Amino acid sequence: MRLGRFERRIIAAITLVAAVTLGGAVWFGQTAVREAYEVGVNERVLSQLEGSLDVYRDYFRAVRDHADRTADSIAYDRRADEALGAGRRDALGRFLDDALERYDNVGRVVVESPSGEVVAIAERTERLDPDLNRLLVLQRPSGDGGRFLVTVTTPIAPFRSFQRADELTQVYARLHGGATYVTGFYLAVYVAFLLSVIVVALAIGIIVSRRVTRRVAVLAEATERVGRGDLAVQVPLDGRDEVAELTRAFNAMVRDIRESRDRIEYLQRIGAWQEFARRLAHEIKNPLTPIQLAVQQVHRTYRGDDARFRRTLDDANAIVEEEVATLRRLVGEFSEFARLPVAALETAELGAFVREAMRGVDTAALLPPALAGQTAPSLALEVAPGPMSVKIDAQMLRRALDNLVRNAVQAVAHAAPEGGGQVLVAARREGRDVVLEVRDDGPGIDPDQRERVFDPYFTTKDEGTGLGLAIVKKVVLEHGGAIGCHEAPEGGAAFRIRLPADEPAEREDPS
Ligand SMILES: Nc1ncnc2c1ncn2[C@@H]1O[C@H](COP(=O)(O)OP(=O)(O)OP(=O)(O)O)[C@@H](O)[C@H]1O
Ligand SMILES: [Mg+2]
Repeated sequence: MRLGRFERRIIAAITLVAAVTLGGAVWFGQTAVREAYEVGVNERVLSQLEGSLDVYRDYFRAVRDHADRTADSIAYDRRADEALGAGRRDALGRFLDDALERYDNVGRVVVESPSGEVVAIAERTERLDPDLNRLLVLQRPSGDGGRFLVTVTTPIAPFRSFQRADELTQVYARLHGGATYVTGFYLAVYVAFLLSVIVVALAIGIIVSRRVTRRVAVLAEATERVGRGDLAVQVPLDGRDEVAELTRAFNAMVRDIRESRDRIEYLQRIGAWQEFARRLAHEIKNPLTPIQLAVQQVHRTYRGDDARFRRTLDDANAIVEEEVATLRRLVGEFSEFARLPVAALETAELGAFVREAMRGVDTAALLPPALAGQTAPSLALEVAPGPMSVKIDAQMLRRALDNLVRNAVQAVAHAAPEGGGQVLVAARREGRDVVLEVRDDGPGIDPDQRERVFDPYFTTKDEGTGLGLAIVKKVVLEHGGAIGCHEAPEGGAAFRIRLPADEPAEREDPS
């Protein structure tokens, strides 16, 4: 995939923005997680916790020492020895009671004989409650080979506290060990998220920029073609964004250039033909009279009685008269074409103009001499209601309209020797234009001839000059309009003149 400069820039911009924002987010996030974690889980708290466990352990050691010493002082007491040695059980019992009195951390003392028989026992049951105290039974040898069993009590609360502190410390140590793992994990998730967001943003960026650059490239290529003189270029519309707007403006511009180029070219061509017609008319007109006079002279002055020669002279004279008349008519049409004035435009109502121009038009009078007497086609008028203000040179436009109607009548009459047929003149508004249309139900015009019919001297008629439609097109172009040749719905030809409507300047909003 080759990337254009524009695409590379967009991708660079997206990458930069994504990297900066998401990189910042990762950094902040990671720092925040680590700090939040470290406020609760850090080395100092852990050592503090472990230190408090040591305190407990020291305490337990002290308790144990104390218990040992207590057991020692009971078992190794002189009085106990004496009582045992003398076998005085009652004295031994008193000694034990005394001992319990003296040591409030002793719950029970049992003296056993070497055979295991209980010799004496003293106890304080309230000290032996396992819910309140922890009991430690210590053995000591007695003087007669038996033994002392001293149950030493310690309040149970510190043990419980120790147990809880120990559990807490273990949990805390586990958390602390996990801190690096947790922040590392968050970082990895963040980075993965960052990367996927960048990838998605890049993909979207490439797609969007590709769409834009592709269309801009099409426009650039079209512009180049216009630069090379190809004014047929139209760029297909795609979408509704600024590029589409640009495309639309470009197409309109090319169309305008093409139309005005065509108009200028046509008017130049017509200008050249007018000059040609003027000179032709001039060159033909001058010798016509001498030719006619010379032949008339010969015809008139022959006094001989050769009947065959006289007939030949009569024929020659008649032929020359007829042909000179035709040439005079041609010369007249040529010089008229050559002297075609420039249109002087004035505001008018198209509907009124058409009605006025077509009033009293007799289609029979428009038939070519060869078809004279045939039933002429009917002429219909179709003027749309509503104002159709337009700037025209009424005289010239009327001449154009006459030419179109004459052509239509002749085409219809020619194609239908039995007579009949119809010619229609229509005027209507179409958007910002007014349209003047002449159509018929005659034979129509071949699609590949529809442009050529406007060329001067293009004709299919024996008597035609081929100037009619050239004059029509020149008049229309001088009106700032356009003319096209189409197929009429009736099947014949349709000539459609499009003129810009004369929009009054005061188009103020009533609001
Ligand atoms: N309504 C029509 N139906 C069919 N063909 C037409 C029609 N109008 C014009 N044409 C064709 O276009 C040709 C050129 O017309 P144009 O008016 O320029 O010259 P012309 O009519 O032949 O000669 P002139 O106008 O001098 O009589 C005609 O010869 C004819 O072939
Ligand atoms: Mg004509």
